[in-house]
Amino acid sequence: MNSVQANEQQTPWWKSAVIYQIYPRSFLDTNGDGVGDLRGIIQKLPYIKSLGVDAIWLGPICSSPNDDMGYDVSDYRQIMTEFGTMADFDELMSLAKAAELKVIVDLVLNHSSDEHSWFIESRSSRDNPYRDYYIWRDAKGNGEPSNWESVFSGSTWEFDEASGQYYLHLYSRKQPDLNWENPEVRRELFNVVQFWIDKGVDGFRLDTITTISKAPDFPDAPVVDSTRSRQPATQYYMNGPRMMEYLREFHDVLLSDPALVTIGEAPGATPLQALDLIDSKAGVMDMVIQWEHTEADPGTGGKWGPEWWTVPHFRKIMSAWQRGLAGKGWNTLYLNNHDQPRAVSRFGDDAKYHSESAKMLATCIHLLQGTPFVYQGEEIGMTNVAFASIGDYRCVETLNMYQKERAAGVSDATLMERIHRKSRDNARTPMQWTGKPNGGFTGAKPWIAVNPNYAAINVEKQEDDVLSVLNYYRKLIALRKSNPVIVHGSYADVDTNSDWVYAFKRSRDGTELLCINNFSANDIPFRAPLPSNADSIEVIIGNYEDDYARSVRPFETRVYRYRT
Ligand code: GLC
Ligand code: CA
Repeated sequence: MNSVQANEQQTPWWKSAVIYQIYPRSFLDTNGDGVGDLRGIIQKLPYIKSLGVDAIWLGPICSSPNDDMGYDVSDYRQIMTEFGTMADFDELMSLAKAAELKVIVDLVLNHSSDEHSWFIESRSSRDNPYRDYYIWRDAKGNGEPSNWESVFSGSTWEFDEASGQYYLHLYSRKQPDLNWENPEVRRELFNVVQFWIDKGVDGFRLDTITTISKAPDFPDAPVVDSTRSRQPATQYYMNGPRMMEYLREFHDVLLSDPALVTIGEAPGATPLQALDLIDSKAGVMDMVIQWEHTEADPGTGGKWGPEWWTVPHFRKIMSAWQRGLAGKGWNTLYLNNHDQPRAVSRFGDDAKYHSESAKMLATCIHLLQGTPFVYQGEEIGMTNVAFASIGDYRCVETLNMYQKERAAGVSDATLMERIHRKSRDNARTPMQWTGKPNGGFTGAKPWIAVNPNYAAINVEKQEDDVLSVLNYYRKLIALRKSNPVIVHGSYADVDTNSDWVYAFKRSRDGTELLCINNFSANDIPFRAPLPSNADSIEVIIGNYEDDYARSVRPFETRVYRYRT
């Protein structure tokens, strides 16, 4: 063993891991109320294990009135009634441990629900001891304390008649921001984290953790769009002045145990900003969920605007993260989660080349350096949904946007087109287990309708098909275990001379992988640049049966391995 390999042996578990993300509400309903639950997750542990993944990340499971589906917590120490009980959670923990699956929980500490007892106290009067747990400000002139626009449309300020002040909510009005400036609040949140550590969890996904410190004087944001009454103000609440101080405190007191993984959600972060957080020596957490590549497509209209996604742009972003973190920090790798439309619809082809493009996107992501995340349903190529009416949608961001734009005179048809493309509900329809009614998710009416394509796309159908997307994911995940180069190898871009093909190399100790991905539905002339002195060249995974060296076929992916 050389020193590089010895070093790699010290690698923390999460670097070689694949993490499976569960959105509990839509995973499996076992008690017939139309809502997924913890017992559903317990029942499917063997399935999860069969994928070859190492860990599960559970979306929020704490008590919540579900204005933002669990991202509005009303009690950090109780399980949401619809999901089950703490006994169910304890059982899930011990069964997961027995199956050697790590468990990561989602913690929402930037804000709570307005139904949390802290907020109920806080709003009850100006001199309540909990007043300062949240961010209250007087009116400026006759209006809101600043012109900030909420992530979920409208103002970030909500007026409270009874106490005559405004409170801040970066997200929905039922998600008041906690005041991290107050040491009491930080102490309370410490205790929450400790509570879950004591429960035996293996790590945390820290929701919107880069927004915990705000510019203290709440300045008005510059007007970037004069047609809007409120303006985007991320520069005043992301990576704020005291964020590092707070996170350092959390890290040093609670989270420095190397067995625990901490994954912070960092919308808007660049590789450089990310390194402040995750530098392997001086950082305050292990990985960040960055958004740059998932935000590579908006036009001038922001998230909902027309798209201009291109492969060169995507490649540029992915390469910048690969190079920027190399040797210093560690990437998360994903295209899907509960906040994103389904990748196969967005970057692939969810009709003619459904299977090919689902496999290509998976290969491209899993072959980069970092920890891949698989979001439930991705492993069978679940697609976007196009419900006919706004009444079929549940996501607060979607509903608020629709309401606001309708009021401004935009037509229903225009808005539904945007929603079909971008709504978060695309990712939240129930898991498609079988071809039976409701995809086998529930015997009742599901909380959100099942995607009507469940008869064609479901787990049961793909289990027995060796060429299915599902079995491809299993193969891909297994490859990671038998090819250390996938975890440890260095990354280099490969020039493909094509605006549709993204190729890169990974190298370690004389072993090289060449990963080629065609993001188009066309045949593209392309000769794999294999070194002439390469030995024992083989294709270790690909989505076409035969190896055809003169071009890449529609949505083809191919990974060569050789020795140099
Ligand atoms: C994160 C979550 C998202 C949620 C928001 C507010 O971005 O991933 O689902 O709505 O934070 O908590
Ligand atoms: Ca249920």
